[in-house]
Amino acid sequence: MTRIQRALADAARALTGVSDTPRLDAELLMAHALRMERDQLLLWPPAVTAPEEFAPLLERRRSGEPVAYIVGRRAFWNIELEVGPGALIPRPDSETLIAAAVEHFEGTAGPARILDLGTGPGTLLLAALDQWPRASGLGVDSSPAALNYARANAERLGLANRAEFRLGSWAEGITEEVDLLLCNPPYVAAGAPLGPGVAEHEPAGALFGGPDGLDEYRRLAPQIARLIARGGLAAVEIGADQAAAAAALFAACGVLPVPKRDLAGRPRALLIQVNQQ
Ligand SMILES: C[S@@+](CC[C@H](N)C(=O)[O-])C[C@H]1O[C@@H](n2cnc3c(N)ncnc32)[C@H](O)[C@@H]1O
Repeated sequence: MTRIQRALADAARALTGVSDTPRLDAELLMAHALRMERDQLLLWPPAVTAPEEFAPLLERRRSGEPVAYIVGRRAFWNIELEVGPGALIPRPDSETLIAAAVEHFEGTAGPARILDLGTGPGTLLLAALDQWPRASGLGVDSSPAALNYARANAERLGLANRAEFRLGSWAEGITEEVDLLLCNPPYVAAGAPLGPGVAEHEPAGALFGGPDGLDEYRRLAPQIARLIARGGLAAVEIGADQAAAAAALFAACGVLPVPKRDLAGRPRALLIQVNQQ
């Protein structure tokens, strides 16, 4: 075992009980401290001791700070996003929405116009713009801090000329029809347990959706159908146990959503199509 591999094993032990993924966290923090990619670290562990910066990074993680905030970035779909306090850290579950859109537009030129409601650090809009190089779109969020990350991410990814970001509340004031509407609203029920460090570090306004977690679907349901162009798709993220309740809220507004499952087989999104004839 090299010195770095020994340091990784020690760090993973120190994070056991603090994190659900202690070994992965240790590797990401070590790669960050060594200014290298994690793959590189694992394939070609350098013959050095852990650099000085590693211990403070490990300590921050031990106090519950999310790895993505410590290293300042998180991979999502085919892009990497800069994140930090004030912006929700992208979750792999949300890739279900992009996968559903890829399936929907397969064999076509893809969506021309995209709307991302509650864009956070630009997560869904920027992944979709990267996926469809001729598309352009708008990301809306009620958090100025999140929008700062979104704009910086668009610049860094070379997508700023196709991405506009706007402070606002869901689709209020938006009249344009779009081919693809993406939305991952806050849907955690108030007081529900979350993973270690989540409630302490990530913005409450990005997580909680009222007493039953459904408050934002109540606001969104009447707004969405009018925004989808013929042949278009809306993909709205839901909590794994919310498919029936959230679908009923949309059905009450005249649209019939179809649940889409994530890679673990749990309902993760509602898909809505209108104006097809
Ligand atoms: C669950 S996060 C999703 C972030 C990102 N789209 C993603 O998928 O990782 C929800 C986002 O919705 C935003 N939000 C909450 N209420 C909103 C509202 N009324 N209008 C617009 N955005 C809102 C939050 O600030 C947060 O960025």
